[in-house]
Amino acid sequence: MSIKKRILTGITTSGTPHLGNLTGAVLPAIKASQDANTSSFLFLADYHSLIKNSDPSLTHNSSFEVAACWLSCGLDPNKVVFYRQSDIPEVHELTWILNCSAAKGLLNRAHAYKAVVAENLEANADEDKAISMGLFSYPVLMAADILIFNATHVPVGPDQAQHLEMARDIAGKFNHTYSEVFTLPEALIQNEISVPGLDGRKMSKSYNNIIPFLCTDKVLQKAISKIVTNSLEPGEPKDTQDCNLFKLYSLFASSDQIASMSLAYDDGIGWGDAKKELFSVINNEISPIREKYFELSNQPDLLNDLFSEGAKKVRPQAQELIEKLRGLVGISNIV
Ligand code: TRP
Repeated sequence: MSIKKRILTGITTSGTPHLGNLTGAVLPAIKASQDANTSSFLFLADYHSLIKNSDPSLTHNSSFEVAACWLSCGLDPNKVVFYRQSDIPEVHELTWILNCSAAKGLLNRAHAYKAVVAENLEANADEDKAISMGLFSYPVLMAADILIFNATHVPVGPDQAQHLEMARDIAGKFNHTYSEVFTLPEALIQNEISVPGLDGRKMSKSYNNIIPFLCTDKVLQKAISKIVTNSLEPGEPKDTQDCNLFKLYSLFASSDQIASMSLAYDDGIGWGDAKKELFSVINNEISPIREKYFELSNQPDLLNDLFSEGAKKVRPQAQELIEKLRGLVGISNIV
């Protein structure tokens, strides 16, 4: 009998989902969750948000935005277990237990931490400047998220692959020291669909080049008008190669539409008109999502109820595991 795959994904609640997240992560993950041979867990990594920011309203608003985004895009909470990390306090108890197995030397090698150290050194600052213990031990909290539910597979972008290796290392060390309790999770490295931002670089909040989509059509239109193009005039033929506007268009348009846009480029379509076409295909795809999203913003109780139902479904598993681990490490009633 083959063991059903248990796929687990976490989303840090520290930003507003944008068009790059939609096509690069949300829609593919929802599609994958429809596979009947898997059970899927999806959670809001709200305690991870504190590592990146100390603005309570940002974490709070982002929790709504991320949850409502996934639901509006078609996530079915009856098929996917959907919960908040903060509703499973056992995650933190496990984090401590794992902290005591995790080698500091291992965490010293984490890319995210090393990047900040490198920046500090570059700026002739103290190497630990602005580095919290949260940032340093972030991979341990992530390992706990995964191991608390014995996930077998974790879809991640290439930037998170190292964290999965670390989760395996930490779990392996614990298994070796105490007992084989943890399943070693496998990373499912996602070939990221690269979505260009306004300036042609990868769409990312940190580049300040995002196109929002959980917004009115006016705001969407305004963002699209800011896409950087070259200065060719209407009437002058344009090249579809290396054109971020064309790349974006191709992500949302049908193959027929892409073919006619390509001809229009040859015929010298003006950038203003090309942007109008782009707005129209994107707006078509996202209007039903936007409608549901705006509906959800008027029903906070619906989201809160979903969170508590999700936690109710899975928390007993976490409690059971922690009971077992306490016994293994020697924390139990005196007999
Ligand atoms: N660190 C992940 C990110 O920034 C989010 C995350 C937290 C996560 N815990 C997880 C992803 C567990 C997968 C599994 O993208």
